[in-house]
Amino acid sequence: MPAEKESIRVAMVGQRFMGRAHSNALHQVGRFFDGPLVPILDTVAGRDRGALDAFAERWGWQRTTTRWRSIAADPRIELVDLVTPNHLHAEQAVAMLEANKHVACEKPLAGTLADARAMRDAAARAKGVRTFVWFHYRRCPALATAWRLVREGRIGRVYHVRATYLQSWGGADTPMSWRFRKKTAGSGALGDLGSHLVDLARFLTGDEVREVRGAVLANFIQRRPSEDGRGMGRSNVDDAASFLCVMRSGATASFEATRVAGPHHNAHSIELNGEEGSLRFEFDRMNDLLVHDASLDVGSAGWRRIQCTHAGAHPYADAWWPDGHGLGYEHGFVNMLADILAELGGGRARLPLPDFEDAYRTQRVLEAATISAREGCAVPLSEVR
Ligand SMILES: NC(=O)c1ccc[n+]([C@@H]2O[C@H](COP(=O)([O-])OP(=O)(O)OC[C@H]3O[C@@H](n4cnc5c(N)ncnc54)[C@H](O)[C@@H]3O)[C@@H](O)[C@H]2O)c1
Repeated sequence: MPAEKESIRVAMVGQRFMGRAHSNALHQVGRFFDGPLVPILDTVAGRDRGALDAFAERWGWQRTTTRWRSIAADPRIELVDLVTPNHLHAEQAVAMLEANKHVACEKPLAGTLADARAMRDAAARAKGVRTFVWFHYRRCPALATAWRLVREGRIGRVYHVRATYLQSWGGADTPMSWRFRKKTAGSGALGDLGSHLVDLARFLTGDEVREVRGAVLANFIQRRPSEDGRGMGRSNVDDAASFLCVMRSGATASFEATRVAGPHHNAHSIELNGEEGSLRFEFDRMNDLLVHDASLDVGSAGWRRIQCTHAGAHPYADAWWPDGHGLGYEHGFVNMLADILAELGGGRARLPLPDFEDAYRTQRVLEAATISAREGCAVPLSEVR
């Protein structure tokens, strides 16, 4: 008889887009991964009683609460998953850490650097608990393969990183929501999409940003239909953001994030060009990694497409389907949860997991971009704390 697995009681705060993605991961993880811990979907917190009950019923949560603080006071809960708007992350994460609970928080770490710092400091103070931030694209097998190839030296010294995240849902007809208010989101495309790009650039290269230059944040649409449909609301975050970075190694990086890019629904791409080769990922073909080997002669060199679906050869592929069958958006969350549970159960994640300290470093880059855009100057990261 196999030994019975230990369980871990989980609570989640928030229950819409990411609430669905994470609930799905909590159900799937034990079916596809042989981890040491089985998650129990214990309590979900939200504000709207009707929506909360319907959500709990559909996604198999045992209890509901409209008071998230009751989770901090519940000694049975060990891991709290925060899927709330950015301005709530700090208050909720600090309360959970002070109650000695592990915290997994959605990205960006917070809306402001001050909030992110409070979270980072609370995590450093907390004893015996771990923090995680849902930069789940790291666990897309093609990007995880890129991480491995860089570490194996396949592209040599990295010269430059080019990262873009282009979406189109944020046009003038899109009604107000927390995402369009500085007070609740902190920023627009910059924090929402740019945080993924900065995390991936740091993760894949293993390098840190030394300086941000030439940032432009554009708020094209300042009035949108209000949430209740009765008037107009004021939208005061960036609809598009672009900036350049110089990395500590001397490599350059360019970042472009937008919610108003016409035909691009979720065009997330990153390219690394190095002395000995190049790597390119495009979310539209998320199972593939494009690889260029600079040692080949110019007549036969060029992009080679690796299908990252082979068990044993590509990270996480062994947990899923036969070779060539492919994964989708939701699998990154399941893969990340498998790694979180592995570490909480005393094992090791397959790839490094971002914690609050790590995500704070990404937040500093976002802050530097904000300052660079506002003041029209280059911003050394050493001046952003
Ligand atoms: N990792 C990713 O790729 C990804 C994708 C989308 C969103 N996100 C992040 O996830 C977080 C949530 O985004 P979302 O898209 O799920 O937003 P959403 O608007 O779909 O859901 C937010 C949820 O928070 C709840 N909420 C708001 N105030 C609350 C309060 N005071 N107490 C309890 N619950 C409250 C809302 O009722 C709702 O259920 C954000 O930080 C966002 O940046 C990450």
